[in-house]
Amino acid sequence: MLEIQKYHKIIVANWKLNASTQFIKSYLSNIRFELTPRYTCLIVICPPFPFINKLSSKGFAIGGQDCSIYSQGAYTGETSTKMLKDVGCEFCVIGHSERRNLFGETDDIISQKALRCFDEDIIPILCIGENLKQRENKVTKNVLRKQIDKCVPNEANKHNMIIAYEPIWAIGTGKTPTFDEIIDIHSFISKLDKTNNFKILYGGSVNASNSKQILSLERVDGILSGGSSIDINEFNKIINL
Ligand code: PGA
Repeated sequence: MLEIQKYHKIIVANWKLNASTQFIKSYLSNIRFELTPRYTCLIVICPPFPFINKLSSKGFAIGGQDCSIYSQGAYTGETSTKMLKDVGCEFCVIGHSERRNLFGETDDIISQKALRCFDEDIIPILCIGENLKQRENKVTKNVLRKQIDKCVPNEANKHNMIIAYEPIWAIGTGKTPTFDEIIDIHSFISKLDKTNNFKILYGGSVNASNSKQILSLERVDGILSGGSSIDINEFNKIINL
């Protein structure tokens, strides 16, 4: 298992349902990252499953965008963590709000996915976040606490799991919480018993103009980038801190 605690910042690219052979060819010939003296930085790219093999051994880590709760058998359309490991994945995003809201994933399913990741020494990147109504009703911390209680298995610790705080209203909207709000939520999460001192990433409308500031915030251990990660010029600016 990758030693995540040794990295100062972890930058995850979630390509979602975007990519093609041609896209990857051009992405790989244009991606530029230099080790900066300021940070030890880990880059994780999460492409759609069919393209994972095209990205291995290129200087960054690979993650799945989802995984099955099953290990093998008659489960048409599923991809197991064993398969992800076999093709070089060291991470897997679980519980993304798009999976929760569009594909009916429950906290219980997400916690089973975390366990399947642990079976294979894959580090789950668990997404949690409140929707706009919950934010307006000022119940964000209750929502996050509940998601953590239900989705984080007792076996989880700061070495084998990462949390991504992704306010749902900030995903793909160009809106972000204030920097103070991000600091407040991250320090809240990192003080909970179940997620004590875990690496916590921020996700939701991160782009080249706000990434440096977000990454420099206290208790922000990295970012999870969607839209900006599929624009290689934008992503190059994000990863060259
Ligand atoms: P965004 O998506 O960067 O496009 O807002 C983030 C995510 O959904 O992980």
